[in-house]
Amino acid sequence: MNTLLQSIAAGRAVAREDLGPLLALFEPGDQEALFKAAYAMKLKQVGPKVYFRGIIEYSNICEKNCYYCGIRRDNRKVRRFQMTREEILGAAKWAHASRYGSIVLQGGERQDKKHAEFIEDILRVVKRETNGELGITLSLGEQPRDTFERWFAAGGHRYLLRIETSNPRLYAKLHPADHSHAARLQCLDDLKAIGYQVGTGVMIGLPDQTLDDLASDIEFFRERDIDMIGMGPYIVHSETPLAAEMPDFAEKARGQLDLALRMIAVTRLYLRDVNIASTTALQALDAQGREMGLQAGANIIMPNITDTKYRDAYQLYENKPCLDENAALCRNCLQRRVESVGETIGFGEWGDSPHFQKRTGS
Ligand code: 5AD
Ligand code: SF4
Ligand code: FES
Repeated sequence: MNTLLQSIAAGRAVAREDLGPLLALFEPGDQEALFKAAYAMKLKQVGPKVYFRGIIEYSNICEKNCYYCGIRRDNRKVRRFQMTREEILGAAKWAHASRYGSIVLQGGERQDKKHAEFIEDILRVVKRETNGELGITLSLGEQPRDTFERWFAAGGHRYLLRIETSNPRLYAKLHPADHSHAARLQCLDDLKAIGYQVGTGVMIGLPDQTLDDLASDIEFFRERDIDMIGMGPYIVHSETPLAAEMPDFAEKARGQLDLALRMIAVTRLYLRDVNIASTTALQALDAQGREMGLQAGANIIMPNITDTKYRDAYQLYENKPCLDENAALCRNCLQRRVESVGETIGFGEWGDSPHFQKRTGS
């Protein structure tokens, strides 16, 4: 075994300068050893329990035009939809009845007042109808600070906002000129100051992204004291401008998956007590992708609870799984997958990030 890995498996703490070399360990034997070390760290820090977050992808209407994303504004081939208030409530109640600790409300970015009010109303009703028991995470892009504040007051208590990459030059290549990296970082600061549990993440294996960039991403999570990480492999969507940069994606898929798993493992080893999601994009590259994520150190799974009729229209990347399935099928399927790797699901618990609990003394 690689000597660096040997010392880490023996208990030496991972240092900043180890991140790049660990991410570079692509030999199968080394990778397995890395995942094992990360898994041991996960057991010690957060235990063998997986928490379910039912994700409602409630609308694909987006003001933004990110070069990699299948629901970007300029993709005219997408049928736009927004779930109704009743449909969203129905999904939330289903999650509560299924004893999911929380839901994630995700959608394209919209900054208009009407939208902010729509979400605020949903938050209040979901809280009321589930006796305050269902946790609610929001994943609705960049917003003005007062919108974040209103949503927090209405019951949102976690927020996911990926930075996509910590490298501003790479960010600029992936987005039109009016999409600002600095604005995104400001949002993370605002969310934390308001009191949210803050989640962020990056895409892994982007065109022109280096291992140094990924190492800096992990350091960014540490510097910003991030509570929750959601990151996954970059996957080409053919109706996007970025697709031309990776015409050979099919041959790269395995490498993308491995790199994403190493990123999860190294993040677990370095940050220790955060919640890390085993994201759906892993499953787009391998049927067992999400189980692999758990075994590389992730402890959160986000089963899709969106109405089946809308799933086809919410494809940020290609090969997204579960387009024809419904919430109950995904629950049973994922429960089986979690149990197949010897883990259990923390039904009826919020499963807050231990990092957040320590950070706030809660
Ligand atoms: N491949 C992988 N992830 C993507 N996302 C958007 N497009 C893609 C893609 N082509 C991710 C972004 C965004 C999240 C909601 O989905 O990281 O923040
Ligand atoms: Fe909109 Fe998010 Fe897709 Fe960008 S990544 S186009 S903000 S849904
Ligand atoms: Fe949806 Fe397997 S996760 S059917």
